[in-house]
This record gives sequence, structure tokens and C-alpha cells, in this order.
Amino acid sequence: MHPIASALLAWYDLHARKLPWRGIHDPYRTWVSEAMLQQTRVDTVIPYYHRFLAAFPSLQALADAPEDAVLKCWEGLGYYSRARNLHQGARQVMEQFGGAIPRDPVTLRKICGIGPYTAAAIASIAFDVPVPAVDGNVIRVLSRLRGVRDNPALGPVRSLLDQLAAELVPARRPGDYNQAVMDLGATICVPGTPDCDFCPLRGFCDALRAGDAASLPAIPSAHPPREVPYDLLILRCGGRVLMRRRSEKLLEGLWCFPLLEGHRPEAELPAFVRRKMGLQVSALASAGEAKHVFTHQVWRMRLYTGAAEEPLLPSDRGEYRWFTTEELATLAIPTAMRAAMKCLR
Ligand code: ADE
Repeated sequence: MHPIASALLAWYDLHARKLPWRGIHDPYRTWVSEAMLQQTRVDTVIPYYHRFLAAFPSLQALADAPEDAVLKCWEGLGYYSRARNLHQGARQVMEQFGGAIPRDPVTLRKICGIGPYTAAAIASIAFDVPVPAVDGNVIRVLSRLRGVRDNPALGPVRSLLDQLAAELVPARRPGDYNQAVMDLGATICVPGTPDCDFCPLRGFCDALRAGDAASLPAIPSAHPPREVPYDLLILRCGGRVLMRRRSEKLLEGLWCFPLLEGHRPEAELPAFVRRKMGLQVSALASAGEAKHVFTHQVWRMRLYTGAAEEPLLPSDRGEYRWFTTEELATLAIPTAMRAAMKCLR
């Protein structure tokens, strides 16, 4: 075993975070946890993980569930394509693999939503296959450890990091090793201000020796997200509220209040709604503003409450429906709608 791997495993044995998806050899649970942990902090994931497995305790249960139920369980966790892919993937494993999650990373990657990282995480954690699971944390740790000072998003640089990762992963305890790198990246080898004094790998670290650990990996700063203005309508009619099930890629399948792209003067809104949506609204009133930041977009929403004269459904693209407040509680509604939801109460 490489001395870096053994130092890391010795540290992990003492300092591993106690997490509910650890200490089990169940590929379904590993898959669920890894899907949730992409782009999301451990603390946020834990309650969702428990709730998801209570609702869908097996691959079969997940495959049999309607998509709306899966999205409802994911409500608030964000990046909903992960939930749709996990659900599709579960159906695919039932159909193509007789319900048995494959152990080979190459086969795992044929499953909907499973990329190189997740395939390696499932194979190593659930099946003890010695493959490195390389995510953003691992890239940071390896870039510092081996002094990789070029942008890891570049193909050849990424290949080098993958190769370094493959050299380090041990034949014994590969799943623990991969999770040890993740824990190191989350608790010590953190972005910006690494805690090198407490690092079990400080004796091996090129960047610590060179004094530039804090500035690695060399990732160019991202484009600022695009600002998108919306007028958001909280329309009621006889105790019901109008909602729309999104068909756009962003938040597909989730329910939002009607969103009109752009901002228009309040006085012009009723005529606009009549023309655009075929709805006659009255008592329109401003209910403040809200902002929601996605990875590539920022929604700047002006909120309006109002009453529709008749519960007609707008005829434009998308699925509109009227819901009672009790029914609203059963829908998957994204966090972007939180401020608007508060206006209902
Ligand atoms: N991030 C991604 N996968 C993880 C895991 N298994 N444990 C901790 N953090 C993670």
C-alpha cells in the first residue's frame, strides 16, 4: 500500500465522520447517498437520506414509485435532475440488470445519472473494487499533495490527476480510502484556508512545502450567473391557488407559481395577464421581492398577489392547475418559491 494511503487510512480510523451511509455494504444506499452528496453538504443531506430511505427502502420500491413522489422527497435539496436520474436509473437496473446493481464501474456508468465519480464511489464503497472516486474535493487534495498548478479542468491536467488518484488507491479498503480523501477535503484540506498543521499528509505535501496550498487548485473564477427578472403571480380563486408544473430543464417536474419573464409596471400587469394567460385578475397588489441563486442564473422576482375571476387555465405552454392549500402541501415545490409560499400564509 502506498504510504500516503496508509497514513490516510490510519487517520480515518481515528477521525472518520460518523455518517449514516457508512459501515454498510449496500449498493442501493451508497447510490442514494452519493446522488445526494453531489453538490450538497453532508449536514444538509443527512435528514434527506433518512427520509428518502424511509419512503423508498429498496431499489424496487424506488423503481415502482411515481416520479412526483420522488421529487417531493427531494424537495428543497436542489439539483432535481439527480432525483429524476436516480429514479430512472432504479427502473433501468430493475429492467436491465434484474434488480442487481452492478459492481463493475464500467457497467455502472451505463446507468442513468451515474458518471465516472459515482460509479467509482459505488464500486469501491459497496463492493470493495479498488478504483479512485475523483470529485472536486479529491482534485483539491491531489493538486496540493502533488503540486499540480495548472487548471484541473483542462483535459491533460485532469488525466494526470486521475492517474495520481489511481496510483494511490489501495487494494485493501478502497471504499474507506476514498471516503478518507473526502473527509480530509471536507475538514482539513478545505478550499481557501487549509488546516495543514493537523493534516495527516503534511509530510507528503508538495504545496505545503512550497507554501501555496491555499491557492490550489488553480481554478479560474467562474462567470457570474445570469440575472433573470420575473413577475411572479400568487393568484387565488375560491380558495385555490394557481400553480404550474415546469417543463423547462431547470426545475423540471417541480411546481412553481406562474412566472412572467421580465418586469413590468404594476399598473400594466392585469392587462398583460389577460392577454398572455387569458385570465381576468383583480385586487392585484405587490407582495415584495425575492431572489433565488442557481448555479447559472439568479431569479429576481417581484411578487404579486391577486384574485382570478374564474378558475380558467392559461393556454400557453406548460401544465397549469388550481390547488387547494391542502393539495399544495403534497406538491414538490422548489426553494426558489419559498418567499412566495410565505405570502400564502
Ligand atoms: N461526499 C461524497 N461522498 C461522500 C461520502 N461517502 N462521505 C462523505 N462525503 C462525501
